[in-house]
Amino acid sequence: MIHASIAIDPQFAVGPVNRRLFGSFVEHLGRCVYDGIYEPSHPTADEHGFRADVVELVRELGVSTIRYPGGNFVSGYRWEDGVGPREQRPRRLDLAWHSTETNEVGLDEFAIWLEKVDSEMMYAVNLGTRGVLDALDVLEYANVRSGTALSDQRIANGRTEPHSIQLWCLGNEMDGPWQLGHSTAEEYARLAAQTARAMRQLDPHLQLVVCGSSGGSMPTFGEWERVVLDATYDEVDYISCHVYYEPDGDDYGSFLASAVDMDRFIGAVVATADHVKALKRSDKTINISFDEWNVWYQSRYNEVDRITDIEEWPVAPRLLEDVYTVLDAVVFGNLLISLLRHADRVTAASLAQLVNVIAPIMTEPGGAAWRQTTFFPFATTSELARGISLEINVTTPTYDTAKHGEVGLVDAAATHDPETGATTIFAVNRSLTEPVELEIDVELLGARTVVARSLHDDDIHAANTLAAPDRVQLSDNTTAELRDGKVVVILPPVSWTAVTLGR
Ligand code: AHR
Repeated sequence: MIHASIAIDPQFAVGPVNRRLFGSFVEHLGRCVYDGIYEPSHPTADEHGFRADVVELVRELGVSTIRYPGGNFVSGYRWEDGVGPREQRPRRLDLAWHSTETNEVGLDEFAIWLEKVDSEMMYAVNLGTRGVLDALDVLEYANVRSGTALSDQRIANGRTEPHSIQLWCLGNEMDGPWQLGHSTAEEYARLAAQTARAMRQLDPHLQLVVCGSSGGSMPTFGEWERVVLDATYDEVDYISCHVYYEPDGDDYGSFLASAVDMDRFIGAVVATADHVKALKRSDKTINISFDEWNVWYQSRYNEVDRITDIEEWPVAPRLLEDVYTVLDAVVFGNLLISLLRHADRVTAASLAQLVNVIAPIMTEPGGAAWRQTTFFPFATTSELARGISLEINVTTPTYDTAKHGEVGLVDAAATHDPETGATTIFAVNRSLTEPVELEIDVELLGARTVVARSLHDDDIHAANTLAAPDRVQLSDNTTAELRDGKVVVILPPVSWTAVTLGR
């Protein structure tokens, strides 16, 4: 049996685990909104047309903030199309996804839905095809109490109280050539700085996210962050990171180590932000909003799903409906481990996305809603990662990967809740064939109880589908034993595990 070990001391903290790490993302894309969260003819639909079965699953998932309304979609979006009487709302072409947007759901409806799922709004303004004035308008509509043209319009539309949105994204992926209004770092930096200053003239307490790169492999990565932060440093709170992973053929060894790449990406963005901080002799620290991350079979979208027929742009087509396997969920759980490990600097994050579109929750029109494999690591981490993230020492065998070099077979992060005394270790075994016996030294935790849950299946390609919605589940890992200040637990091959120690 292969062995690995972890040493934990609750005195060594990375930083507090911000609840905003467990955010997600709802874009007007495919069936995320229409036939996803909103389906007025569904048997469970409420008076607003929202599916109650989806609301229940989103609550179970434990999502803190939700980014809205895009994504690439936002760069062509006119927010005012989505407010006011429904029958007067225009149908528009969505150039990002080659779909037709009916505008049945907009800011006010989405805010109602957020109350049902108990999440905070993170709103993205359009800096692709619009600019400062539009950002100010949507801010006035959303946040000003009353007595101005747009706040009174909101009240007339039935929403008396302001939405009080605190967290705003200054556009989306403006470094990407696919983005409507794609610009150079200098062009975007100037617009983002002007927009941020203007928004803060209205409300100095807003928390603003400036666009970083759409991935660490973008040709402008690094320099983009430097230029953008140089222009916006004093005006913003966060810089965004986005990343998606998929296997290259059957190179599962590299795929399973995707979190190594995420670690390096975070490290590079933190270094760049701190470089700008040093140049400016600033006391302020810019943190990361990792507001798009996931496993995404982007090659499938490019080769199969992409809509190219310019005569017919459907309403809510089936786009980016990846079916996630156990293998995907283990990689996904490891990405959460990477986020926890950087909890001092990654203080907000959004799983992209939430329903139907590269999502943990799937729905069938008129039918069932179910949990994908990725649902389980997210819900469990959101439930158990409380308090502070701990610096831990993992001793593990390694293996070679084509993409990331030599990597650990086991990866882990831990959190400790000083209020309850509970400590949870989140661990993955990346081996395709071998179980690992993991020994955790818990002497300094004063632990008396241990409970472990694992995501594993003998078939790493097993998935949950409409026909078999409960094929893959989280199960109790009964191998976990606490003896003489040590926990020993067996991590099956290709598995994700949460081990909770109580006092
Ligand atoms: O999440 C899907 C898409 O990925 C988003 O619209 C875009 O921001 C990113 O490229």
